[in-house]
Amino acid sequence: MHTQVGIIGAGPAGLLLGHLLHLRGIDSVIIENRSQDYVIERVRAGVLEQGTVDLMTGMGVGERLQREGMRHEGLYFSFQGQRHHIPLAELTGGKAITVYGQNEVVKDLIDARRATGRPLHFEASDVSVHDMDSARPKIRFTQKDGSAEELTCDFIAGCDGFHGICRPAAPAGFVKTYERVYPFGWLGILAEAAPSCEELVYTYHQRGFALFSMRSPKITRLYFQVPPEEDIGQWSDDRIWEEMLARLSTSDGWKPNVGPILQKSVTPMRSFVAEPMRYGRMFLAGDSAHIVPPTGAKGLNLAATDVMALAAGLTEFYANGSERMLDAYSGISLRRVWKAQRFSWWMTSTLHRFPGETEFDYRRQLADLDYITGSRAAMTSLAENYVGLPLDVTLA
Ligand code: FAD
Ligand code: PHB
Repeated sequence: MHTQVGIIGAGPAGLLLGHLLHLRGIDSVIIENRSQDYVIERVRAGVLEQGTVDLMTGMGVGERLQREGMRHEGLYFSFQGQRHHIPLAELTGGKAITVYGQNEVVKDLIDARRATGRPLHFEASDVSVHDMDSARPKIRFTQKDGSAEELTCDFIAGCDGFHGICRPAAPAGFVKTYERVYPFGWLGILAEAAPSCEELVYTYHQRGFALFSMRSPKITRLYFQVPPEEDIGQWSDDRIWEEMLARLSTSDGWKPNVGPILQKSVTPMRSFVAEPMRYGRMFLAGDSAHIVPPTGAKGLNLAATDVMALAAGLTEFYANGSERMLDAYSGISLRRVWKAQRFSWWMTSTLHRFPGETEFDYRRQLADLDYITGSRAAMTSLAENYVGLPLDVTLA
């Protein structure tokens, strides 16, 4: 079997890349080790930047997103019991974010892939990559029915997430990594309760960070900061609501609506970057190359901009044989990735309580929040980062 681009991973990065290539007449095979249901049902991101919405709409996969996505033109920062509004659209010339679950994005992209008739293998096992430094890299895997396959490719796209096999397949020392692990995680829940605020509320509380978000007019999504190894078994539904209400409620009487908890889990938090995002003819995109703490809502959006840049490079290659853009891919992506890293780190540092922090740190964080919500200049900087910085594809 041969394909032009062998894509490992059917998360947002792999599926978006497959469809972008399809639209440009480039063939691909997508290989995923989990089941279709698992990939769709995994509860993860919820916030799409303006550019991600525009990308999906431009690709013809934005119909349900336009209909069901919840466009937010602002958000709230809450501290010392008060919510402060940040008018994102007003500060960014009309840009906004859209709340639309990653599950829905993935579902729409799987439907679009199926409609193209191009291969998408779920439940593949023993996936491995070979000869990445040659003109004929290979992917070996076992299909769901047990048959062993060898797929030769012109290129391999490693879209296999943080725990994937592509990044570690480069020779030892070739990829340099940068990492920061945070001394907390997020306990997240999905609750069957109507959102009680029309926009997101990021809360800094003495008991720690909390976030109010949503998935639909009937489903609220909430998070709060816990120790990184927290056992979810220690958190009964009643205890979760008690903590959530203690942190999120504001002095004007606002609080989230309480309802049955449909799902709960704890996620550790880290910042991570791998450089370069390429080894030979294997390119890394999305979480396989970088992780951001979720506070800035950037992970899925970075996956989208990575594959835009990668698809542009592959398109140029197949149009005229030039590798100029492919050679620039890693540098172009990393420049934007580091800015998103900076923003996510800053949001995380400003809104969480750190073990061992002093009263000085606490006061400084409050002053930071007071400044951001009180200065139009500071708010504008926050807003332009939150709705998403442009992807600069200028070649050096
Ligand atoms: P993934 O979604 O991880 O997809 C990789 C795929 O590769 C997976 O399907 C995996 O099963 C598959 N795979 C792995 N190994 C192999 C293998 N050996 N062979 C074949 N397939 C393999 N981001 C935002 O932008 N906004 C948010 O609001 C946000 N909130 C988040 C909240 C939480 C709780 C979490 C955990 C994440 C959040 N993120 C958010 C991050 C976002 O979910 C990820 O950045 C995004 O999923 C990255 O997409 P990806 O395709 O690169 O990786
Ligand atoms: C979410 O809705 O899941 C969400 C929203 C904002 C974030 C992270 C997660 O920063």
